[in-house]
Amino acid sequence: MKTFKPDFLWGGATAANQYEGAWDVDGKGASVSDHCTNGSHTSPKRVTPVFEEGTLYPSRVATNFYHHYKEDIALAAEMGFKVFRMSINWTRIYPTGMEETPNEKGLEFYDKVFDELKKYNIEPLVTISHYEIPYGLVETYNGWYSRETIDCFVRYCKTIFERYKGKVKYWLTFNEINSGTMPMGAVLSLGTIKGYNGPVNKVPDEKEVRYQALHHQFVASAMVIKYAHENYPEYKLGNMSILATSYPLTCNPADVVENQKNARMMNWFCSDVQARGYYPSYMDRFFEENNITIKKEPGDDEILKQGTIDFYTFSYYMSSCISAENKDSGAGNLIAGVPNPYLKASDWGWQIDPEGLRYTLNEVWDRYQLPVMVVENGLGAYDKLEDGTVHDSYRIDYLRQHIAQMEEAVKDGVDLMGYTPWGWIDVVSASTGEYAKRYGFVYVNRDDNDQGDFSRIRKDSFFWYKKVIESNGKDLD
Ligand code: BG6
Repeated sequence: MKTFKPDFLWGGATAANQYEGAWDVDGKGASVSDHCTNGSHTSPKRVTPVFEEGTLYPSRVATNFYHHYKEDIALAAEMGFKVFRMSINWTRIYPTGMEETPNEKGLEFYDKVFDELKKYNIEPLVTISHYEIPYGLVETYNGWYSRETIDCFVRYCKTIFERYKGKVKYWLTFNEINSGTMPMGAVLSLGTIKGYNGPVNKVPDEKEVRYQALHHQFVASAMVIKYAHENYPEYKLGNMSILATSYPLTCNPADVVENQKNARMMNWFCSDVQARGYYPSYMDRFFEENNITIKKEPGDDEILKQGTIDFYTFSYYMSSCISAENKDSGAGNLIAGVPNPYLKASDWGWQIDPEGLRYTLNEVWDRYQLPVMVVENGLGAYDKLEDGTVHDSYRIDYLRQHIAQMEEAVKDGVDLMGYTPWGWIDVVSASTGEYAKRYGFVYVNRDDNDQGDFSRIRKDSFFWYKKVIESNGKDLD
């Protein structure tokens, strides 16, 4: 019976906007996330074009990887990481996104990070754009809505591809690209919020703008994949989608059809384009019914075909149910759907579904036949410091069950490359902008009142995950 490969990539995931901090140090510019305030499960974070005095903008300090990278990489190495998923802050390299020449100090920072990883034989897995489009591009171009943003992104990619040759092999173009199908994706990923001042969950639902912006992301992603394949044959490039797996609420055929529709729109549309190289035919009806016309330039369809991905990656946290009758969202703060009566939810209402991960991995494999990697998964929880540590048995339980289901998927025949649980060290939450929602094996002493010295503390899960890696996934106790 198959099991995890001997060279399985065990590790953890982070993103610069939630982890690095040092938002204006060494020439870095402001990104959308630097303009987002702190929030919580009950009070949404806001985006403000102008910084407000006395308001907390957590991304600006985050958990300070910028000044702790050596210590953090040593902790990752202590757990036995084989891979380290991180992202490059676009605004560290091109502060407004529009400069002609890159910021050398920003480039140097990632040189140091990659060299440090190399010291421990840890492979970087780099997300090129993870929820931190330069705010300059928002103000000038309304983010990805304008085609000009493609050129800015391509310039940025060419710079980092060349600079980090021999240091990085695995790249993901856009984090959770399919978040752009949802209104909140306008803030997180597309930057189509020029002039918007308000809560992130109240951004106007401008479908045509979002799908046009997504088209530009598809083209940009394909262009840089094609370019990398031609110039750096050793590079492997992947997509990254949120897989918000959903089930029909009942066996009523109306629920089944509604669920299929939802899964196509939410989960498959973007990766169908990125993996197959063309728009799926089911989108024609959606565009027609919603009066959406995508402006394409001659050559776009060709580029999409030429720049398909080498491997498929996704985040998986939860699942939900879809009902034809009741479309109210009650299954999580980002994802549509209604609660599943068979599942329990986290404190943030995200329904915990380990078997759903096995199901999802099989769906991806059957659909694309590409090597797959789970690049985010984990439990956001309120942690309590006790006896100088965190006894996070709830997190261990969550991860244990998901890893066991990943192994089932491997037995089912899925070509699984690796696993990088989210926020292996505490970071700021993307959806709520708070510190209180923690995922890490390592606790970072920082809170929502702007207090804490950023010291790092190993939680119980740290020692558990170390054993998991040592045993290549055999010892889950
Ligand atoms: C994914 C993102 O949506 O999930 C991460 O890629 C994010 O950036 C993670 O942090 C967990 O979500 P949250 O909202 O709990 O931070």
